[in-house]
Amino acid sequence: MSSATNATEARELEARGIDAVIAQGFEAGGHRATFSEPYERGHVGTLALVPQVVDAVSIPVIAAGGIGDGRGIAAALALGASAVQLGTAFLTCPESAAHPLYRRALNEARDDQTRITHAFSGRPARGLENRYLREMAGYEAIYPDFPILNTLTGPLRKASAKGNNTDFMSLWSGQSAVMSRNLPAAELIELLVKETESVLERLATAV
Ligand SMILES: Cc1cc2nc3c(=O)[nH]c(=O)nc-3n(C[C@H](O)[C@H](O)[C@H](O)COP(=O)(O)O)c2cc1C
Repeated sequence: MSSATNATEARELEARGIDAVIAQGFEAGGHRATFSEPYERGHVGTLALVPQVVDAVSIPVIAAGGIGDGRGIAAALALGASAVQLGTAFLTCPESAAHPLYRRALNEARDDQTRITHAFSGRPARGLENRYLREMAGYEAIYPDFPILNTLTGPLRKASAKGNNTDFMSLWSGQSAVMSRNLPAAELIELLVKETESVLERLATAV
């Protein structure tokens, strides 16, 4: 499996023989999966991306990006996805290694608080805005490339976490962070399945 952020990338992956394509929408947390240049070609929202990728390839499509609960999963299935991939929703599970302040920031995040930034690693990734992102804005032209910048910011990120300060931590997050439930992963999956079934039932009886 591999991720695509537009239909062209999805077709390219299929031609290279992958078994399933993950359609990663613009809402997704963490590093952008875009491998075509420029990166802006991968700025397609999940709602628009998934059906276009479904139409573009004949292999199964897994929807990713901004899915936070059963409503999002049911919507992705309605768009033609065979499955979904959630990342941000699992960051606040007890099994995750996320710092307590990072968890709190995710639980309190508003829908408009994430940014796409190259400033931590040299590659675009979506995370919650903090002091580091604000102060690095405007210097994009002189950021070193990945993975040099990633190596350079490593000690800064570690020191920030050790000092219990989110100013210089990479707070990777999708746009649905506040929908996180903080449940153990197995319970979260059970709840997501139940929610999805109930949305699908409601829709089936509504027509
Ligand atoms: C902490 C974190 C790190 C990630 N790192 C990568 C990465 O290095 N490469 C990549 O293609 N996707 C990465 N992703 C994106 C996921 O593969 C997935 O597309 C995304 O989490 C789905 O959107 P959501 O976070 O809104 O659920 C990352 C996601 C998170 C939350």
